[in-house]
Amino acid sequence: MKVQIKPGFLFPTQFWTAELNENIEQLQNEAYSIRNNDKDGVRKSNSGLQGYHSRDIRNLDNLPGTNLLLNQIINAVSTIHQISRQGELQLTNFWININGKGSSNTPHTHSGLTYSGVFFIKVPKEMKGGRFLFYRNFNEADLMSTEYMGLFKEGYQKQGYDYPINTISPKENMLVVFPSWVPHAVEINLSDEERISLSFNFKLNRTFSNVK
Ligand SMILES: [Fe+2]
Repeated sequence: MKVQIKPGFLFPTQFWTAELNENIEQLQNEAYSIRNNDKDGVRKSNSGLQGYHSRDIRNLDNLPGTNLLLNQIINAVSTIHQISRQGELQLTNFWININGKGSSNTPHTHSGLTYSGVFFIKVPKEMKGGRFLFYRNFNEADLMSTEYMGLFKEGYQKQGYDYPINTISPKENMLVVFPSWVPHAVEINLSDEERISLSFNFKLNRTFSNVK
């Protein structure tokens, strides 16, 4: 008897994108003012001498454009959440990244949170590198080789799910939201222009209705 082998797929992961309509020039100016007021910033996933990662932004008094952007982000993430889930979301923190030539963000997750995301404030006109990368698994991050993937038969059209890495080409005013546990990174910016983004985290205020 011939054994029947059935292929299946495991665990699709949702992410969401939206195009916003923010004042990009104002947001760029505010990002530079954040860097001017705290030139050191912090070292997190940022790699390379020209990579700036701000501290968490706590005061929006002099950042009206960023304030408006955050309201839009809160609306968008709340809408995403309410489509199929319950409970109150809370914006926990947000910061900016300014990636000059040669800088990148190494693969990482924002574990312990619910939703994370990024909004692109400045994308070099001639984008070289600097794409946003999602990894299926950290262990696969460097395993795109034929030795790992094998060879597909001639005529097979590769699909997004055939790859352990998915890429997003950033565009100004583009919002990307994803589950916080998904490993992600930013490619090295090879352009002479800086690349600016704002990143954020949301957590879910869990309520346990069966606990008194
Ligand atoms: Fe991140």
